[in-house]
Amino acid sequence: MARVVLVTGSTSGIGEATALRFAALGDTVVFNSAHSVREGERLAEVTPGSHYVQADITKEDDCARLVLEVVARYGRLDVLINNAGATKKIAHSDLAAATVDVWRQIFEVNVFGTWSMCVAAMEELRKTNGVIVNVSSVAGVRPTGSSIPYASSKAALNHLTALLAKAVGPEVRVNAVAPGLIDTPWTADWELERKFVSAVAPLHRSGTPEDVADVIVALAATPYVTGQVVVVDGGLSTAL
Ligand SMILES: NC(=O)c1ccc[n+]([C@@H]2O[C@H](COP(=O)([O-])OP(=O)(O)OC[C@H]3O[C@@H](n4cnc5c(N)ncnc54)[C@H](OP(=O)(O)O)[C@@H]3O)[C@@H](O)[C@H]2O)c1
Repeated sequence: MARVVLVTGSTSGIGEATALRFAALGDTVVFNSAHSVREGERLAEVTPGSHYVQADITKEDDCARLVLEVVARYGRLDVLINNAGATKKIAHSDLAAATVDVWRQIFEVNVFGTWSMCVAAMEELRKTNGVIVNVSSVAGVRPTGSSIPYASSKAALNHLTALLAKAVGPEVRVNAVAPGLIDTPWTADWELERKFVSAVAPLHRSGTPEDVADVIVALAATPYVTGQVVVVDGGLSTAL
């Protein structure tokens, strides 16, 4: 039976590639974003059997409504991909720029929003022996990334992943991917970083959204892995 797969933040980049990869496997996909409604509706139109739901994961009510809409339409939820994320690029040495407001804004999406989605979806995921894959970052594993608040939020997400896996097994599996530099609209003007990665990473290139989607799909399918953070960075972290 086709799985019902909800991918947050799937109108662009890694989330879009992941949703399309599941759809290509014959799964039923629900696209989501907070702002880009037209793009979400377009993706749903061109992806057979899919649907788009606008919801801002920083709002608990939206998270609950998102899961309700999925279950009302398809009757079940098998896979939750927590991909929606936020950052602000701040040099790590610029402590004054990393204000508590910036920390709050980033944690609102990457940690609190992801947590709210996990809580909202858990009852349905328990019914289907479902699976969660969180989209973290290599910045949560190594002391690197677009800013200290961002890297710290992804480190929190990695720990949340392991803790949640312990709490909800064996019914539900919870894993994360930790991408390195991936070519998406988010990193479109990160030329210096792209040159650095191409120079030092063993695979000598930045990643594509599909490189990450491959690992997400594999984690969703493999039955004996939980609580893990899989780095998808072309080997970059070996050089940091
Ligand atoms: N690109 C990289 O190099 C890289 C590396 C490591 C980790 N990551 C992680 O990968 C994930 C996706 O990044 P990306 O590069 O693919 O970014 P992207 O192309 O900018 O896509 C972000 C998606 O998230 C949605 N979104 C943002 N805030 C949201 C919210 N509050 N509620 C629901 N949807 C929201 C966006 O849509 P709207 O703005 O229209 O709502 C968009 O669909 C993030 O978690 C990021 O931290 C990216």
